[in-house]
Amino acid sequence: MRWLAPGADAARILTHQPAECLSLPRDAEAAWRVEVGRAAFRTPLLLGGQAARAGVACATCHRNGRANADFDFPGVSGAPGTADVTASLFSAHRGDDLFDPRPIPDLAGPMDRLKVSRDEASPALKTFIRGLVTEEFDGDPPLEAVLDGLVAGSSRWSAPWPARTARRTSSNASAPRIGGAASAGHAAGLNART
Ligand code: HEC
Repeated sequence: MRWLAPGADAARILTHQPAECLSLPRDAEAAWRVEVGRAAFRTPLLLGGQAARAGVACATCHRNGRANADFDFPGVSGAPGTADVTASLFSAHRGDDLFDPRPIPDLAGPMDRLKVSRDEASPALKTFIRGLVTEEFDGDPPLEAVLDGLVAGSSRWSAPWPARTARRTSSNASAPRIGGAASAGHAAGLNART
């Protein structure tokens, strides 16, 4: 988390993460897909171009699948917590000359505020995420297994309980975590052309 708004409380932000609201499926294979997606979501190796060079991952903006009220990236953010996802800095494909930062949505937020289907079986989510990686962030096309993982993970962010503002430090989160070595293992060769 290197992109903080001036005056932001770095100690708080760097030691706290929004609670991760993700339900793991019982089926072992489906649970594995979700874990692959979580790992890919956290690594800049998935993205390309300037985002990867700057160390930006999906999770930089969507911390634990949520939002990031403190994200303030020069040339990409307007007010803290917003990003222009069609900024030329990140995207040679979708970059436009219009500076139109939008609030980073909480992917576990109320479904009626989200635009893209959360149905794992619907092709819409897969098409959307493939477009994010390859066009919005200039990444190489992800391996099918990685894409399936991102779709499985994204379809499972949800916060059906009222304590949506509860915070946990990343070290005591009760959700299953992926160890550093395992993450690095997944991260290597995430994209079809790497
Ligand atoms: C630079 C910050 C940033 C990064 C990095 C980022 N996003 Fe987003 N994301 C946004 C913003 C801002 C929006 C809202 C765009 C809009 O409203 O047009 C968004 C929207 C979304 C949505 C749609 C939410 C809805 O309304 O249904 C999904 C799903 C999503 N992002 C997933 C991802 C995934 C997966 C990655 C990594 C491949 C990623 N995002 C990387 C900022 C980011």
